[in-house]
Amino acid sequence: MTSRVTSDLDPFSPEFRADPYPRYAELRALGPIVWLDRYGIWVVSHYEQVRAVLTDWEIFSNAGGGGLANYFTTPPWRPPSIILEADPPLHTRTRAVLMRVVSAMAVRGMRHGFQQVADSLIDRALVRGTLDAIPDLVQPFPLTVFPDAVGLAKDVRENLLTYGAMVFGAFGPSTPWHEELMLQAPAVGDWILAHCARDALTPVGLGASIHAAADTGEITAEEATLLVRSLLSAGVDTTIDSIGLALRCLIDHPDQWRLLRDDPSLARAAFEEATRYDSSSQSLFRTTLRAVEFAGSDIGKHEKVLVLVGSAGRDPARWDDPDRFDIRRKLTGQIGYGAGIHGCVAQMMARLEGEVFFQSLATKVKTLDSAGPSALRLNPGLRGLTQLPIAMN
Ligand code: HEM
Repeated sequence: MTSRVTSDLDPFSPEFRADPYPRYAELRALGPIVWLDRYGIWVVSHYEQVRAVLTDWEIFSNAGGGGLANYFTTPPWRPPSIILEADPPLHTRTRAVLMRVVSAMAVRGMRHGFQQVADSLIDRALVRGTLDAIPDLVQPFPLTVFPDAVGLAKDVRENLLTYGAMVFGAFGPSTPWHEELMLQAPAVGDWILAHCARDALTPVGLGASIHAAADTGEITAEEATLLVRSLLSAGVDTTIDSIGLALRCLIDHPDQWRLLRDDPSLARAAFEEATRYDSSSQSLFRTTLRAVEFAGSDIGKHEKVLVLVGSAGRDPARWDDPDRFDIRRKLTGQIGYGAGIHGCVAQMMARLEGEVFFQSLATKVKTLDSAGPSALRLNPGLRGLTQLPIAMN
């Protein structure tokens, strides 16, 4: 016999998002799948069910939209992503192109350039000593290396942050903040698409490689432009926010910072642990293609399922002492980059950005301390900081 456990918790409320981890534990205690009355959606919060949903694309589809809005019943605010918001066979074709473009070999070639930018940003921060790490150290890193790797023109890159806020803001319920931001959507949307066109990009770079796939007929020219846009949507705020949160983890856990400082080769592991412990990507969505019985509940056709990867990363059934931030943890089964056919296509690149940043920090910086309270940006699609005052020398 199936059952329906319901809850009035609101995962999009500022209170929930300010400190989601105790609330995730409340949700996990309710059962493997819970109905959220407020939004009329399902939520899974255990590692086992999160992985099960993400790896079953034939039932749990991405074509219903990456956020709370249900594209099967409501028209999308922008042409949907042809990779993140697509199912096979379209997804198989577009993903193959991106997989090649951000292959391990392509990513290896980026290390040196990333290193130079990280070193110079950290040198400059050391001269200042006290600074707000988010605008002055963290943001400029992905905002420089990533659009450079894509081959984007150097003008007004801040538009990328406005665009990212629109994309990730649209994942949750409508708020006055997002509605006001969306007044700029036509202009910013046009700006992005114009900058993703072939002739707007440098002749060598990830963007050019995507457009080259149109020459062989693998994708159309229009699809190439949309795929460049996907990289720009998914590749800027995610890394900024993950690096910012990882930096805060190290400040909040001075013993872990000292371990890293004494052995900078732990940088990759530190970023990996932060991606489990407190990451930018907390929640994903799927929409059912047909009615299904799942973990003891009946889910109807075209119903939304909120998939809490941030909670899966803290599930005690999967991790020893999950609320401990431990950069020497032997971490296998990472869920912070998703799983299954939509698992982050550029996770090697994201890891490289994190590794290079924290290796440079650990090599150059002796002391790292908080210089004031940090603040969260409450964008429903992505967790990140707006300020993180630090003192370093
Ligand atoms: C630390 C940084 C990052 C995190 C935490 C992250 C996380 C994720 C997650 C959780 C997904 C799965 C979404 C889903 O299943 O619905 C995903 C997909 C994706 N990510 Fe990332 N990501 C990061 C960085 C990047 C970067 C740098 C890029 C671009 C270069 C990128 C491009 C993508 C794309 C295109 C997809 C869609 C893949 C597909 O649908 O097949 N991500 N990412």
